[in-house]
Amino acid sequence: METVLSINGLTKTFGRLTAVNNLHLEVKRGQVFGMLGPNGSGKTTTLGMLMGVVNSTSGSFSWFGQPPTSHVRKKIGAVLEHPIFYPYLSGQKNLELMAMIKEAPVANIPKVLELVELKGREHDKYKTYSLGMKQRLAIASALLNDPIVLILDEPTNGLDPMGIAEIREIIKKIAADGKTIILASHLLDEVQKVCTHFAVLKRGNLMHYGPVDDVGKGEEMVEVAAYHDDLGVLLQEFIGSATVKKENNEFLVMMKEGYHSQDLNRFLFDKGIVASHLITKKKTLEKQFLEILAEGQVMNSIKK
Ligand SMILES: Nc1ncnc2c1ncn2[C@@H]1O[C@H](COP(=O)(O)OP(=O)(O)OP(=O)(O)O)[C@@H](O)[C@H]1O
Ligand SMILES: [Mg+2]
Repeated sequence: METVLSINGLTKTFGRLTAVNNLHLEVKRGQVFGMLGPNGSGKTTTLGMLMGVVNSTSGSFSWFGQPPTSHVRKKIGAVLEHPIFYPYLSGQKNLELMAMIKEAPVANIPKVLELVELKGREHDKYKTYSLGMKQRLAIASALLNDPIVLILDEPTNGLDPMGIAEIREIIKKIAADGKTIILASHLLDEVQKVCTHFAVLKRGNLMHYGPVDDVGKGEEMVEVAAYHDDLGVLLQEFIGSATVKKENNEFLVMMKEGYHSQDLNRFLFDKGIVASHLITKKKTLEKQFLEILAEGQVMNSIKK
């Protein structure tokens, strides 16, 4: 698949603080790419560098295989901070002004208004808009010049559950329209619900990178008990065990990828042991995310 964005060793320091440390990432066409990380992990700084509003300290990146010139950046729409619109002008008028500044066709306005579901409210003054509507107008504005890529920084920040759901639906619609989306979020749930791929940042370091669907694979745990003195030893011997931990009267076996509870059950049975207790547990994504963040291991390169 075509590479939209390629980041090579991108670094940003503010004095002694390293906000983004040697970041390597690739985003392919059609992906909804989530940058997930707690507050201060370097998401906004990264997006700022990608949009050319923050100067990088070292490293590089390319859009569509080309260096990031202002010409290339025209193919990218972004909602970075709270955008500035004129409060006493209507949404429509604000978009007309934006179209002029961006040299985007005014004829695109009805389409983008429709997409963000502001049709019917476009002649109301901006100051009368709800927070969710303001955010949607910002997205509409970023879409005015029909960009290939849309960048969103915390698109649902401060919105109520209804507003959050609306924004998520709109993101999905835009993605279905064929656009590549890069969004920063500190919400695991958000990334899980709208993204196809994601990266996890922690204090500027890349901790994890891959498809959202892959998370949870090979992460099966089996809780097992049996009336056998050497059960713990036997479980260690099982080829599908990654780790074995004793918890109260049971053992908790973390399975290797491709192994499941039935394999473990069969192994025990072949040894003449009948399990008195056998429960399969999947690690929640939440737990995995916390583990990724707790890991000391930093990724300095990515698999292609
Ligand atoms: N202009 C600046 N001057 C000094 N330090 C900065 C500046 N901008 C960002 N930082 C620091 O860089 C680090 C990363 O900040 P950044 O805003 O990129 O994080 P973030 O992941 O977007 O966080 P949040 O989830 O709170 O938006 C933080 O420690 C922040 O204080
Ligand atoms: Mg931020």
